[in-house]
Amino acid sequence: MTSARPEVPVHVAIIMDGNGRWARRRGLPRLEGHRRGVEAVRTITFAARDLGVGMLTLYAFSAENWNRPADEVGGLMGLLEFYLRKELETFVRDRVRFRTIGRIEGMPPGVRRLLAATEEATAGFTGYTLNLALNYGSRTEIADAARDYAAAVAAGREKPDDSSWETFSRYLYTAGMPDPDLVIRTSGETRISNFLLMQAAYAEFVFTPVLWPDFSKEDLAAAIAEYGRRERRYGLTSEQVGKSAAPAAQ
Ligand code: FPP
Repeated sequence: MTSARPEVPVHVAIIMDGNGRWARRRGLPRLEGHRRGVEAVRTITFAARDLGVGMLTLYAFSAENWNRPADEVGGLMGLLEFYLRKELETFVRDRVRFRTIGRIEGMPPGVRRLLAATEEATAGFTGYTLNLALNYGSRTEIADAARDYAAAVAAGREKPDDSSWETFSRYLYTAGMPDPDLVIRTSGETRISNFLLMQAAYAEFVFTPVLWPDFSKEDLAAAIAEYGRRERRYGLTSEQVGKSAAPAAQ
């Protein structure tokens, strides 16, 4: 998966924030903000592809979001089901590979079935991937990876003295995916909120005040342009980066 233009990030990850504030400012229920948030998901999925991005990861539901009021959690799950039912056909038509990261086994059975069907129907597409983070948290991801890695060592599938990141990262939910080059957070908040902590080790961050339901293709293009102006050094000096391509980060 390579981006056509070098200044365009291969993998963009977005913390979609501000649905609640968008609704409150209009005197609407929070769920209406989430509904408009789903519209933005649709727009940005195709905008990213049109701009030359290879993979888009969206933080749709965090492991901590279960603690929100029950009606909001139920509403979000309902929206997710509605979204998946509607989008399957679009993904197949437009050759979008659909994937997920997170503790998917903790999602409601109806949603799990739709997720599996969508992943299966789009598994053969290689040009562009939409990756939804659901019931996702970096700390649970590390804990799950450590458990699975320990089990692999106990079963003799991994060497006990191998402490390389390359090996361990194969046990993360993101195994086989490129690290995000650019992480965007909307709504003016400047936190990472337990999102891709390890994978974003060398990512560039762009924070925008735009609330997620208002986030447009132009806003995404502006974030990508900002990314293009940054110099990624991967621990090297400017002079070194100028001379040769950056080495693979460990
Ligand atoms: C933050 O807004 C957003 C979320 C809790 C998750 C994002 C969810 C969606 C965009 C809708 C569902 C997505 C799909 C793919 C069906 P917030 O409620 O925290 O906003 P606030 O900080 O203004 O209250």
